[in-house]
Amino acid sequence: MEQSSPATVASPHKEPSGSRTGWWRDAVIYQIYPRSFADADGNGIGDLEGVRQHLDHLERLGVDAIWLSPFYRSPQADAGYDVADYRDVDPLFGTLDDFDRMLREAHERALRVIVDLVPNHTSSAHEWFKLATLAAPGSPERDRYLFRDGRGEHGELPPNNWKSVFGGPAWTRIEDGTENPQWYLHLFDAGQPDLNWRNPEVVAEFHDVLRFWLKRGVDGFRVDVAHGLIKQADLPDLVGHEGPARADELGPMWDQDDVHEIYRGWNRVLHEFGDDKILVAEAWVANSERRSLYVRHDEMQQAFNFGYMQAGWDAAAMRAEIDESLASNALVDATTTWVLSNHDVVRHTSRFGLSDPTRWTHGIGPDEEQPDLELGLRRGRAATLFMLGLPGSAYIYEGEELGLPEHTTLPAEVRQDPTFFRTGGEQTGRDGCRVPLPWDSTKPAFGFSPTGASWLPQPAIFGELAPDRQDGVPGSTLELYRSALVARRELDLGGGSLTWRQSPEGVLDFDNGEVRVVLNTTEEPAAVGEASVIVESVPGAYADGTLAPNAAVWLR
Ligand code: NOJ
Repeated sequence: MEQSSPATVASPHKEPSGSRTGWWRDAVIYQIYPRSFADADGNGIGDLEGVRQHLDHLERLGVDAIWLSPFYRSPQADAGYDVADYRDVDPLFGTLDDFDRMLREAHERALRVIVDLVPNHTSSAHEWFKLATLAAPGSPERDRYLFRDGRGEHGELPPNNWKSVFGGPAWTRIEDGTENPQWYLHLFDAGQPDLNWRNPEVVAEFHDVLRFWLKRGVDGFRVDVAHGLIKQADLPDLVGHEGPARADELGPMWDQDDVHEIYRGWNRVLHEFGDDKILVAEAWVANSERRSLYVRHDEMQQAFNFGYMQAGWDAAAMRAEIDESLASNALVDATTTWVLSNHDVVRHTSRFGLSDPTRWTHGIGPDEEQPDLELGLRRGRAATLFMLGLPGSAYIYEGEELGLPEHTTLPAEVRQDPTFFRTGGEQTGRDGCRVPLPWDSTKPAFGFSPTGASWLPQPAIFGELAPDRQDGVPGSTLELYRSALVARRELDLGGGSLTWRQSPEGVLDFDNGEVRVVLNTTEEPAAVGEASVIVESVPGAYADGTLAPNAAVWLR
């Protein structure tokens, strides 16, 4: 049932004072992947009640907001990124009442709540798609999606050469009993038909969906595949390479200029609800300049900084991404976001333990190079501390505050990611970063679920890293995150600015207000001079004016 009185944040950490000075500009936002966060009902899949029960963990951690990956009604062909009903909670995750309760209690703790919006495609189980398959070619029902006749004498070939991001063709032919059935476009799984965003009915429907959740009191939306909604009108063949359409490559399906008109419309809808609601773009585009177009003053407020996420353990690449992002976003008066991990990529503690951490990986399988856990965690902690010292907003992915690694030995039988199946196992897929979180090392499924059920098996190391093993333990990863987040807020690092200092190769060194942030990516100690420590990435990282290898420190 829709509620008319919105839940609001009781005592926000920062009052919004205008559209370009809002809370998000320096916020730390924690991503919850609901199916893996905490399971309250015992079916092995996390739920909204599980989120509510663990809000104290997030409050103590010191984040400003949470972003929830999709919990809407869905057949789960892509773990909920295939939405069948945008206005309801899937019974797997609970009910709308559970959502409202969770939202209210989050706001009482001054935690803002951002929900995921999946506008590029619906589920094939969505009412609109069912109607489209029953309707005739050229009908208004089909025009909500991208249906086309096939090529070849009998239309037996797909309408163009596009490949799905998940592997295989981007077109599926429907079976409607006619002689020459049409094909529909799906840039992702066949269960995720792409919508036709040139159709005003689609535009109007999503304005309504935005209002539905804004009325409930949400603080914003993370926009899935924000760079993909508008395709070049004639859907031309992709020229230049044979491979599947990768979301970070330019092509007639990505980052088309017309897409921005959609976000101007959404911006207006958000402002009906005040000037502190946000849109966050998941936009895989060519460079930071293209990305900054999404955060112009009349569009979105933030875009994920995937350039930074992919810079690896490489000081020069990190610095280049930092400089480019700050410069591009300054042109449109937006602050920058920083991110190291999410539900689509190998956890950064594991990436940094590979022989080539700059390599972009699609999951790690049991037969592939296994990360060095100790080195990965050491570097991962340093990378996080360094990131949290940067001005702007930072995203944290659930479990990284515990130092969780990727699960790299999941057997094929338990895998669920459609990329694994659509590439015939060639791509390991994203299951390894989606393994249910540990909460208590002494309990079944390490406290994830009261029954011990878990939709993916957890590795033994998750027990060692559970919060009960780290809470109050000096030097633990959990305590590092907590102390860094407290200091970041007290010293207003998010609202600060960056001035580089001279530094040797492999070392990054900058001032942010009164704080000096130093990262040593090399295998040798780095001389940085005498100062007092605010936070260090591992105990003893900084001593006698020297920063240890693979470590970071905040100094004053
Ligand atoms: C990006 C999401 O983060 C990912 O998990 C999903 O598979 C695709 N978009 C398709 O919705």
